[in-house]
Amino acid sequence: MAVINIDPVLGPPVNPPGLLAVPVDPELDLFKEIERLKKEKNAVLLAHYYQDADIQDVADFIGDSLGLAQEAARTKADMIVFAGVHFMAETAKILNPDKKGLLPDLNAGCSLADSAPAPLFRAFKDRYPDHLVISYINCTAEIKALSDIICTSSNAQKIIESLPADQKIIFAPDKNLGAYLIKKTGREMVLWNGSCMVHEIFSRQKITALKARYPNAKFIAHPECEDQVLRMADFIGSTTALLNFTKKDLSREYIVGTESGILHQMQLASPNKLFIPAPPDTNCACNDCPHMKLNTLEKLYLCMEYEIPEIMMEQHLLEAARKPIERMLEISRQYGL
Ligand code: 13P
Ligand code: SF4
Repeated sequence: MAVINIDPVLGPPVNPPGLLAVPVDPELDLFKEIERLKKEKNAVLLAHYYQDADIQDVADFIGDSLGLAQEAARTKADMIVFAGVHFMAETAKILNPDKKGLLPDLNAGCSLADSAPAPLFRAFKDRYPDHLVISYINCTAEIKALSDIICTSSNAQKIIESLPADQKIIFAPDKNLGAYLIKKTGREMVLWNGSCMVHEIFSRQKITALKARYPNAKFIAHPECEDQVLRMADFIGSTTALLNFTKKDLSREYIVGTESGILHQMQLASPNKLFIPAPPDTNCACNDCPHMKLNTLEKLYLCMEYEIPEIMMEQHLLEAARKPIERMLEISRQYGL
């Protein structure tokens, strides 16, 4: 391996915007190294279910967006390393302004968060002055700061139902989750026109063909999927809800309509069951989130070793974005979520 001289002032070489350009010794046991760094730096490693299996295996906590935000809110660690996408690491930082928040690759964004630019959303919101804004956690800190309450797919229904029946609501940025929640709650909501590039491309036709091939398989899906796909589902829920369903349900075969990373935990929890990733409308057999999959074990190791890339935010934005997240955590506590 090439020897890299780390500049004591400038630090390690960085590729804009924030990816470390340091080669990793292929013989290094990265699992061991990451465990060592966690202890040395009193760091907690949080990973979303959509991460690669090896990252999930080395994480301290694996969860859906709500579970990870709750874990970030309660951690006593000095450093939070987030194996997920930018809005997740940003949320952890907002909840822990005095801790160091790291994301292995700052390019790990989210099509849903990108679909709601703050200036456009502000203008949209201004058209509905008597509406309360509920935003899905998959949005930027700027959108959070323009929102009254944040929600995730685990608690959105409860949060909407906790509001007075005559309360007018804007729901952003996911139109598919919004449409699903309108159906579930019977509430009228004004929807922002955003969507997830992963959940929007499941092929109804290919799922139908899979169902014919595996007639005993249940089709389970995430509510970010389009209505035409959700209508085929035997069960709909957040990633944690889908995982819990497969643990308790008595079927032995499942077609899983969400990002394929979740199959790792499903298979670990139920080794004798068959999990088939629902195919997208492309030539691929399973559906990966290209943003989530930017994180690798190597990048994770480098980011913990050199403590970059770090999530940096302006104080006023941190404070404005924290209020609606804390409101979500408070309502979730009240409902035991
Ligand atoms: P949950 O983590 O709430 O299931 O959402 C899935 C997702 O798309 C995260 O980016
Ligand atoms: Fe965003 Fe969809 Fe990827 Fe989740 S799966 S991070 S919502 S693009």
